[in-house]
Amino acid sequence: MSGGRGVILRPEDVVLCVGKRGTGKSTRAKAMLAAAMAAGQRVLAFDPHDEYSKHGRDSGQVRLGPLTQRMTLVELADNLDVLEEDGLALAVVPEGSQRDKGEDFAALVDDVLDVGELVFLADEVGQWGRYAIEALEELACQSRHSAVPVVLVAQRLTQIPKTARTQATQLNSGRQDNPDDLKALADLAGDDFAVAVARLARGEHKHWRDDAGPEPAKGKRK
Ligand SMILES: Nc1ncnc2c1ncn2[C@@H]1O[C@H](COP(=O)(O)OP(=O)(O)OP(=O)(O)O)[C@@H](O)[C@H]1O
Ligand SMILES: [Mg+2]
Repeated sequence: MSGGRGVILRPEDVVLCVGKRGTGKSTRAKAMLAAAMAAGQRVLAFDPHDEYSKHGRDSGQVRLGPLTQRMTLVELADNLDVLEEDGLALAVVPEGSQRDKGEDFAALVDDVLDVGELVFLADEVGQWGRYAIEALEELACQSRHSAVPVVLVAQRLTQIPKTARTQATQLNSGRQDNPDDLKALADLAGDDFAVAVARLARGEHKHWRDDAGPEPAKGKRK
């Protein structure tokens, strides 16, 4: 399938959005969140480039995303009740070093799994993910129990920790050409998918779903 249309984020979903820089990952991820919001789902984005909310940093290079609220992680720590709100559509912008961001992400995962019933997206995993491997793995393995669909965005599939990768129910890939990434793509989605991804032009993508995955669970926030 193409574009973000028709992508329904279910509680058990772990969506990996990968591709070389500038292949449109964040653009497609924003479209997924817009669709989730339109479907009435609560949404939270870990947003290092400050690009997922209408109040983000307008660099002129990217189109800002659809989220209606923006906070730094420090501001969120003082306002954790916001995570309980109906209609949550919040971009959380981490600051500091990549290590700081990884540690902040790990703390946020605890809050997200505690509160539950929201779509949780994290971008730039390749930058800070090495400092949050356990949190990424816990998120991918446990989020279903908190009714938290997860979207992880990274330039390379191998930047997603392996245990988290094995939980993927959907893969949205722009061009990848590194042999390690192509091997990981083939392991997850099959040889034909990996071959097709290696041939994509900039701006093109392919979407894979684990058809053997669990049935969509019903359940909507009251
Ligand atoms: N389908 C498309 N057609 C034309 N332009 C696009 C398309 N998708 C994205 N773009 C543009 O390409 C640029 C890069 O897109 P985007 O920021 O989504 O890439 P990215 O994969 O997230 O890159 P990075 O890895 O650097 O974060 C942006 O200016 C965006 O507006
Ligand atoms: Mg991006």
